[in-house]
Amino acid sequence: MGARSGGFRRSLGSQAAMGNILEIEDLSLTLRGSDGKRLPVLEDLRLSLSKGECLGIAGESGSGKSILAMTIMGLVPGASILERRGSVKFEGVELLGLSEDGFSKLRGNRMAMVFQEPMTSLNPLLTIGEQVGETIYAHQSDLSAADVEGRVCAAMSRAGFSDPGAYLASFPHQLSGGMRQRAMLAMSLVMEPDIIIADEPTTALDASLQVQLLDQLRHGVKDGGHALIFISHDLGVIRSIADRLAVLYAGFLVEEGPAAAVLEHPAHPYSAALTAALPRLTVEHRLPRSIPGHLPSPDKKPSGCVFSDRCVKAQRVCHETVPMSREVGRNRRARCLFPETVE
Ligand SMILES: Nc1ncnc2c1ncn2[C@@H]1O[C@H](COP(=O)(O)OP(=O)(O)OP(=O)(O)O)[C@@H](O)[C@H]1O
Ligand SMILES: [Mg+2]
Repeated sequence: MGARSGGFRRSLGSQAAMGNILEIEDLSLTLRGSDGKRLPVLEDLRLSLSKGECLGIAGESGSGKSILAMTIMGLVPGASILERRGSVKFEGVELLGLSEDGFSKLRGNRMAMVFQEPMTSLNPLLTIGEQVGETIYAHQSDLSAADVEGRVCAAMSRAGFSDPGAYLASFPHQLSGGMRQRAMLAMSLVMEPDIIIADEPTTALDASLQVQLLDQLRHGVKDGGHALIFISHDLGVIRSIADRLAVLYAGFLVEEGPAAAVLEHPAHPYSAALTAALPRLTVEHRLPRSIPGHLPSPDKKPSGCVFSDRCVKAQRVCHETVPMSREVGRNRRARCLFPETVE
């Protein structure tokens, strides 16, 4: 494929760790608040994603899930950034500080994003066929109209349209919410990207459409087509799709590990509190159902452990010491001075 094997691709790959398509190391981001206030929204994040893997990202509203996604995609406006440190590598290529030109070769082509609300992301003046096709033209202007239409229909069919041709000339407002979400998915799939980041893609859908969309996303990962970062506050949904789970709290990655293991035996008290609402198989696994207190705003985080003021297990030292991320089990890490013992 022309654009995918072009100059940019040739420069990729040499430094990438085997299998890891994305490597995030010590990523910190401080945004500029009103009146110049410092807003540390991501703090010392370390994460990786391998090919054919689905990484779920969970955390309360405001914990930094979307900011993380937008940082990876180069979508955080430069003017709002006060300070940025660390590294985000896509197949060995540093994305922090990459030029807009560099990002425009990647976005839509190698990395794609599915947003929460399709009505705000789709252009109301363009047909679905034009919008899905636009992504192709942006990266491969040499294709014939017939080839583009073929690719558009194939992507729409993978996104769950049973008769794609019938919707090519439809405008977004003529489609149901579920169809619009599928059109967004088709736009993200059309260039066969290496990574798809789906930010709460199912929240606007009813239960049966959620299941269908999750199936489509999961198939793409399992068929080896792409890696997936799936952002959701719904741990039930994450459990059904993610291989690994990263739990964010106030910009910190507080726990990370195999999704099933983290959900069944959380090591961090925050993950334990989050998972409390999930249906459990046994009574002894039940945990308190709500987390007292509120997520702190980025400029008012407590000293010591960021979760210490809400943590039922907090001791004096927790209010004084910022815990380092440490190994708490096989392929599992948590940022807690007193994590639960896990296998
Ligand atoms: N452009 C911005 N300027 C300043 N602060 C911002 C900006 N965008 C987000 N924030 C702040 O960054 C923090 C993380 O926000 P983010 O949108 O990433 O949360 P989230 O985990 O995606 O929440 P939700 O579940 O509600 O989508 C919040 O405190 C938010 O207010
Ligand atoms: Mg968000």
